[in-house]
Amino acid sequence: MSNAPVLILLGPPGAGKGTQARMLEEDFGLVQLSTGDMLRAAVAAGTEAGRRAKSVMEAGQLVSDEIVLAILKDRMAQPDMARGIILDGFPRTDGQAAALDALLAANGQKVTAAVSLEVDDEAMVGRVSGRYACGSCGEGYHDQFKQPAHAGTCDKCGGAAFKRRADDNAETVRERLKAYHAQTAPLIAYYEGKGVLARIDAMGPIAEVRQALSSIVGQVAA
Ligand code: AP5
Repeated sequence: MSNAPVLILLGPPGAGKGTQARMLEEDFGLVQLSTGDMLRAAVAAGTEAGRRAKSVMEAGQLVSDEIVLAILKDRMAQPDMARGIILDGFPRTDGQAAALDALLAANGQKVTAAVSLEVDDEAMVGRVSGRYACGSCGEGYHDQFKQPAHAGTCDKCGGAAFKRRADDNAETVRERLKAYHAQTAPLIAYYEGKGVLARIDAMGPIAEVRQALSSIVGQVAA
């Protein structure tokens, strides 16, 4: 039995799940679990799962539950999970939500809170297309909304090389938005039915969203 908090960030591509999850790690000592990051690492490493996921991700579709759950289960078996987790980009389907419930129940746990980051779709195309990250530490930036304090140098680690994701182009973002509305948005009602849902207006500046999220997380992860 564990009392460690289990938080879920729900929202379409560009809603700010990754940006906010990394801040919650810093603020509350929780561990960010991003299935997107795990899948990109598998693609980069050329594993069997990564080879199967690559073209699906580049097309903006969802990778199969089987592959995603195998990767996530491995990660959730690690000892640092006892600090509490922020799930970023998972679950994304009914099947993943049911599998998560079962995985947690086996450890005497359940979802503590699911926060829906509510945004306008059209603005998300611009947010995602302008995104880039430090090639060394992964810190995220944006051409317009979040630039390093000193151009060309990562604020966090001082790295000078930056990268952009293969699926961050306008056409693929629109496919990802479609997949979100068809397969993932229904989970908002699922968690509302369980009484653990909170909604946040995530169209404001990053710092405002951080404050709204922190006040929710502070109540369950203090
Ligand atoms: P994944 O990596 O999870 O991507 P996503 O859900 O499409 O989300 P993003 O990472 O694009 O957006 P985000 O909400 O994290 O926004 P961010 O904080 O970076 O998934 C990629 C692919 O992997 C999927 O398409 C699928 O193929 C596969 N996959 C992953 N998980 C899966 C699963 N469970 N099942 C099946 N397939 C799966 O912010 C975006 C930009 O905006 C940044 O530049 C940031 O600086 C900026 N920004 C953030 N907040 C604000 C704000 N409030 N105002 C202005 N700018 C902001």
